[in-house]
Amino acid sequence: MKNDLQDKAREYRLGWLHGLDSFRDGTRAERQPAPGPQPGLLATTYDSTCRLLKHPALRADRYPGPELQTLGESERAANALRRELEAGRFVKRQDSRESQARAIVAYVCGRAVAASMRPFIERCASALLASRREKLDLVADYAAVLPDYVLCHMLAMPVSDRPRLRHWADELSRVADGETHAVLTASAAAHDIRRFIVARYAELGNRGDAADGRGVLVRRLDAYPEDVVTSAVAVMLAAGNETVQDLIGSAAVVLLANPDIEARVRSSPNLARPLVEEVLRLETPVQSTDRVASESTTVGRCPMRKWERATVWLAAANRDRAVFRDANEVRLDRRTNPHLAFGLGANKCPAAALARLEAQIAIRRLLRHTDALRLAAPIVRKPEGVLRGLRSLTIALP
Ligand code: HEM
Repeated sequence: MKNDLQDKAREYRLGWLHGLDSFRDGTRAERQPAPGPQPGLLATTYDSTCRLLKHPALRADRYPGPELQTLGESERAANALRRELEAGRFVKRQDSRESQARAIVAYVCGRAVAASMRPFIERCASALLASRREKLDLVADYAAVLPDYVLCHMLAMPVSDRPRLRHWADELSRVADGETHAVLTASAAAHDIRRFIVARYAELGNRGDAADGRGVLVRRLDAYPEDVVTSAVAVMLAAGNETVQDLIGSAAVVLLANPDIEARVRSSPNLARPLVEEVLRLETPVQSTDRVASESTTVGRCPMRKWERATVWLAAANRDRAVFRDANEVRLDRRTNPHLAFGLGANKCPAAALARLEAQIAIRRLLRHTDALRLAAPIVRKPEGVLRGLRSLTIALP
């Protein structure tokens, strides 16, 4: 069983759009040789994934319990900062700093604010496309830039300051990647973010949100302390760029692989909406996530010890034939598409509305700007990992 599951996991990660059927057979939450110090559970079906993600005793906390005791002083400090800064790890507790930061992200990335930013996002997408002649690296020149511009806008920062934003993101992500010595520079970045938002807030004044969402993140200082707003900015920097970038890149690949679908979305731009849902389902930018048991418990019929881990394969659940008809096909006519690309339960992505909007606009504008999508160089994919996407995709421009 051990090698079988490992093979299936490897096969899945290497799979591209089709050919994932054998992985689908790993049907229930099963014990697997997890990479950590203890064995854990593996969920590959829709049902077992939902059970795990909704289970009240399973937490999205990466550094709990006994593992922490074995660490040295500097690693403990690094972990404390990681917990503070990194995305995807807010522990659900009422009135905690984490849940306040989550509330900020949910508000500034929620439906209403995202809709107010639509004209800004459309202008940015058009300007990025117009700035290139002959060729466009859809990843570096477009998909990676758009989410940063949106964050700049929320911080009332000119988009020309994007390098500063990138610098903050890079410093913070080195800590999340496990580089203990990066703690000091990451702390400096966090202080810089804090100083920045306080200074911007003083300039904007206490005048409520702008109609187009400009400065909406900075204006949260009306209601929340500086350190909480800083945390929210930090998690958005960590979680809000590469995921959207991957979604837009994968959407372009799906269009290139399916010219009939490209033609349909060109002639009916509203189909960008179901297209993005199908890309989220089939290409699942965040392929998997994990949980840890905060007490001894049972998931389905599977017992779990305290501190035992569970890995859920969102990507596999999203192709579960028991839930999705023609699970490996791109279908723009699904009546419902309850995919799990944004997770489920207490830690479900609070920015789904914004991410969807950015991707839909990016695809519509791209199709409007081109007569046909034509590759100008081979596609380069990212190495397999939790995030699924592209390194580069160069298309010819008219
Ligand atoms: C296509 C784009 C995106 C995808 C596929 C995605 C996916 C996810 C998933 C699967 C989770 C849950 C992780 C877990 O349960 O362990 C999550 C959490 C989160 N995401 Fe996203 N995300 C996207 C975009 C964004 C953006 C644009 C932002 C912010 C600007 C963001 C901020 C967050 C935050 C803060 C969390 C943690 C929520 C919590 O733990 O309470 N995400 N995301």
